Formats: sequence, structure tokens, C-alpha cells
Amino acid sequence: MATPHIQAESHEVAEYVLMPGDPLRAEYIASTFLEGAKQFNAVRNMLGFTGTWKGVRVSAMGSGMGMPSIAIYAEELCRFYGAARIVRVGSCGALQERLKLRDLVMAVTACTDSNVNAIRFRGASFAPAADFSLGLEAYRAAEKRGVPIHAGTILSTDTFYGHDGDIDWKLWASYGVLAVEMETAALYTIAAKHRVQALTLLTVSDSLCTGEAASPEERERSYGSMMEVALDAVIA
Ligand code: HPA
Repeated sequence: MATPHIQAESHEVAEYVLMPGDPLRAEYIASTFLEGAKQFNAVRNMLGFTGTWKGVRVSAMGSGMGMPSIAIYAEELCRFYGAARIVRVGSCGALQERLKLRDLVMAVTACTDSNVNAIRFRGASFAPAADFSLGLEAYRAAEKRGVPIHAGTILSTDTFYGHDGDIDWKLWASYGVLAVEMETAALYTIAAKHRVQALTLLTVSDSLCTGEAASPEERERSYGSMMEVALDAVIA
């Protein structure tokens, strides 16, 4: 079997999938955390691997950046490969001062400035939400490991670089939105359509409030603990 963007037999992809934006992060998850990992996809270099975590089969596959990209891979994983749980593991920009670099953010729900859902729902507004039980497991796993985690609303934006510098993030911040990234509103919507459990975990890589950004070494360390939290949650 193959889909336009995934060249794998259906049995090669696990029911539980971690999705980093960067396909090389999928390779990192596979080589660092999964036992006996085998690659199942290389179409467009969107690498995908399946191995085991604590004896349970788990896949890790890149999503690419932005909602059109993750929407393609999530749809194909849900519709053709029988994904049952998808956990996005990514990075975000903090919109609130209390969020520190390397903290974890759990997206309970995602606002968006994108038109993708306005098109899908004919102008009405769908509320993309995380799977509650998956979120609960991730929150517990983070607390158990002593990883600071903030659960709340995030913004999925279509523009990393705005017209005139930053996006209009202060508007969203004034409504308590925790952080900004570029994929979750689409992931939660597609998962809902297919009754697939979905969750997004993000590491704070930069802060729009303070202008600071984590160094590559700092990112590496915090990504590691996020992956362990995500893996524990997805197999729970
Ligand atoms: N904007 C959008 N996506 C992001 C950011 C940001 O500032 N940081 C990490 N992902």
C-alpha cells in the first residue's frame, strides 16, 4: 500500500505516532528512544520510523512546517494507516512572561489565524481540542519527571514572519493565549474527523515577550524530556 505522501505497508506504521515538525527529529526519536526502529518512509524526505517504547510499538514521523503540511500527513495516517493516537512534539514561542525557555506547553485548544478551518466549516468556527485522556497522561508524566508544564490555549499561525515584523501576538496574549506555533489547529481538526486521539506538546524555544531564544544545546536537552513525556503518554 502507498498514499501520495507515505510509501509504506500499513503494518509498518504503528497505531501510536509521535510527530515532530522536522523529519530529522523523527530520526532522532527513533535512534535515541525507540528499540529496533525501522524506517518506513522517505517520500520527500519526510522520514518515518517504527520501533518500540517500553515494549509498545510507536512510530515517529515528521509533519513538516505549517498546517497544510501536517494536514496531509495526519489525514493519510488517520485515513489509510489506522493511526489511533498522534502526539505532535514541537517548539513554540511564548506569549506570556511566566513561560520560561525550555518549559513544556500542552495545547488544550488551538486558535488560528489560518483560513483552513473557515474553508472547511464554511465560515463557521470549529474549536480544535486535545484529547482529554491523552492530555491527562502527558500532564502526569511531566509532573512525575519534574518538567514544568503549562496547559492552556495556543495559537496556530500561518505566518512565522509577519508583514511588518512579528505577528499581532499581543492581541492573542491579552486573551491568555500561552504560545504560538504553526500546526495544532489542523492536527486537532483532522484527528477529530477521524475520531483519533491527538495531543500537542511544545517546548518553549523562544519568547516573543522577552526576545530571548534557547541555544541549540538547551533545545536538545529540553526536547529529550518532552519526547519521554510524549512517549509515556502515547502508550498509557
Ligand atoms: N512563531 C511561530 N512558530 C513558532 C515560533 C514563533 O515564534 N517559535 C517556535 N515555533
